[in-house]
Amino acid sequence: MTRKLAAGNWKMHGLKADLAELAAICAAPQPGCDVLLCLPATLVHRGVCAAEGRIAIGGQDCHAAPQGAHTGDISAAMLVDAGASHVILGHSERRADHAETDAMVAEKARAAQAAGLMAIVCLGETLAEREAGHTLAVVGRQLAASVPEGADPARLVVAYEPVWAIGSGRTPTEAQIAEVHSALREGLARRFGTGAAEQVPLLYGGSVKPANAAAIFALPHVDGALVGGASLKAADFLAIVAALG
Ligand code: G3P
Repeated sequence: MTRKLAAGNWKMHGLKADLAELAAICAAPQPGCDVLLCLPATLVHRGVCAAEGRIAIGGQDCHAAPQGAHTGDISAAMLVDAGASHVILGHSERRADHAETDAMVAEKARAAQAAGLMAIVCLGETLAEREAGHTLAVVGRQLAASVPEGADPARLVVAYEPVWAIGSGRTPTEAQIAEVHSALREGLARRFGTGAAEQVPLLYGGSVKPANAAAIFALPHVDGALVGGASLKAADFLAIVAALG
């Protein structure tokens, strides 16, 4: 049985004024699924939620090097030190803003797993790729190239986030989501074997809201969500958690 994971990605949000929302999420009754908040480094280092023990903390990126002269970056070991258990890698916003390639994401994932983190590898097609009918080819290539050789499937999460659905209020149809998630599961099975592949949570991300979460979670090979905007408000994120758990 694949573990169910509701993950929030706070992106570049998280001032002191937002800590009340974070505290409300942490104080919620024990959820029926794993719950994770991927926070900006400033908040990860505050250990805001780790102390509660209910909510796992994650980072939103890490450098591939263990340490060194990389101004502005954060290492996987630093995230572990701060109490993080997961890290998002290869988010489409980082692929766009920082020219991150599949190979760079793979090296980051290798470093994250070596430090003991769960690597959440993000992938997804652009609208042009979707409209051209290239979605399965694109996500298949990203999966193969962004998950490093020798990766540990027990420390891997894959998030399918169609770029055009992020922050847009639009989502693929249920059939389209199911098609991609099934293809991702098959790709993982070819890589790691069926049993190990079944243990890798496949998250959907891109305009997940309380109103659509239950229908998305009912789809085959959807084991949770990576939620952006709706994770910033405790009520909305906890409604999505409830739909999963
Ligand atoms: O990483 C999750 C994020 O990209 C999805 O954003 O706002 O569409 O839920 P949003």
